[in-house]
Amino acid sequence: TRVLVLNGPNLQRLGSRQPDVYGTTTLGDVAAGLAAAAPDGFEVELRQTDDEATLIGWLHEAADTASPVILNPAAFTHYSYALHDAVLIVTETGLPLIEVHISNPQARDEFRHVSVVSPVATGVIAGLGTDGYGLALEWIVRRAGRAR
Ligand code: DQA
Repeated sequence: TRVLVLNGPNLQRLGSRQPDVYGTTTLGDVAAGLAAAAPDGFEVELRQTDDEATLIGWLHEAADTASPVILNPAAFTHYSYALHDAVLIVTETGLPLIEVHISNPQARDEFRHVSVVSPVATGVIAGLGTDGYGLALEWIVRRAGRAR
């Protein structure tokens, strides 16, 4: 099973961007950690884009290739109805899609309190730093081992 780990705008700058909020771990570190943590039978592919259309295309690809998704939609979280619709295209097939936020958006600016993605995501992990990605992978692996 290939797990797609999709990251939205500005996340390429993880490690140097607001380290007080997001920590000093880079997206490359996250990718390496997930690759090391993936058990036999699972591979992890991490991608990042600042472009909404590209991110939507990747979600269509996930639906078409039956790939579970770990998604940090970054600022798109708070206003992209197009992303909402694309996430639903994945989850309505029964595939898991975990929304991950490094910070806890509920503890930050008011505009971050709304997620238009959460209502159509399988679940949400927020505020646990970059550990959230690994925890999401752990659950995807656990779920795949369960009868459905
Ligand atoms: C974020 C939270 C968003 O509000 C913000 O726009 C980001 C990162 C997080 O991982 O904590 O870019 O998704």
